[in-house]
Amino acid sequence: MADQAARRRTTSNNATDVKTNETSKTASGSTRKTKDGLSVVDVLRILGGVFLLNCLLSYFITNDSVLWGWRPWFVRPSVVMRYIQGPVSLTDTQLLSYDGSDANKPIYLALNGTIYDVSAGRRIYGPGGSYHVFAGKDAARGFVTGCFAEDATPDLRGVEWTYIPLDVAALGTVGVTREQKTYREQEVRKAKKKVRDTLDGWATMFSGAGKKDYFEVGKVRRGRDWLEKTPKRGLCAQAEKQRPKGKGAEGTDAGAAYRGGGR
Ligand code: HEM
Repeated sequence: MADQAARRRTTSNNATDVKTNETSKTASGSTRKTKDGLSVVDVLRILGGVFLLNCLLSYFITNDSVLWGWRPWFVRPSVVMRYIQGPVSLTDTQLLSYDGSDANKPIYLALNGTIYDVSAGRRIYGPGGSYHVFAGKDAARGFVTGCFAEDATPDLRGVEWTYIPLDVAALGTVGVTREQKTYREQEVRKAKKKVRDTLDGWATMFSGAGKKDYFEVGKVRRGRDWLEKTPKRGLCAQAEKQRPKGKGAEGTDAGAAYRGGGR
């Protein structure tokens, strides 16, 4: 009997100890318990551990990224620096000096008025690189036609003809049937969309949305009438030669395979 009473006293004392313990911790606020008996710190520790494990797993599997290939701008130091410094605004002439010849300057290229930093691809865009021709300038037209040196200009007037089948031009303007007119309109519409898609594809790559470490830095500053002042040009010989033959055929975006960054 005396033993039982002593055990009851001990149990009740222990319970009081635990209670006191919990109450004091709760009062301090640092280890507030959840329903399952875990403190907020415990939960944070578990979440941190899971995150760390996830990062390690991603790094070992992708061999490159701790966030499964997701590279938001705020984890890229050069992009953060540019964000702090603000966007650049350069004329076409000023842009020329960012072609990689000066090792102390970043390498820029522009596409349709938007400037991108492609310094991460110095091997490709720097002097002697396979695509140095695009560095320090806006050669949007060349990105569509494939005539890199000849079409190193942002003038996109008539560039859709790269993708318009040869039999469309053959229609002429007089004595055209309604069917032929519709065909021509459809092809021109399709070709213009293809030009937009092609340029968007390159812009996506240069903005760093893919695997490449490029990023947007600003805009090219041009007068309002720059386009009117630029003499109109025809389709370059190479693009003319590669136009699709006729009905059903579609012009190909020759550069598409090289945007993915898989090389
Ligand atoms: C309109 C046509 C084309 C355009 C605008 C174009 C443009 C480009 C650009 C800008 C790059 C560099 C991508 C980067 O920054 O990583 C590139 C890479 C490359 N392109 Fe093209 N390309 C075209 C057609 C072609 C064709 C037809 C070939 C093959 C015959 C080709 C072969 C390559 C190769 C091998 C690379 C990788 C270069 C390297 O990593 O050093 N391209 N292309």
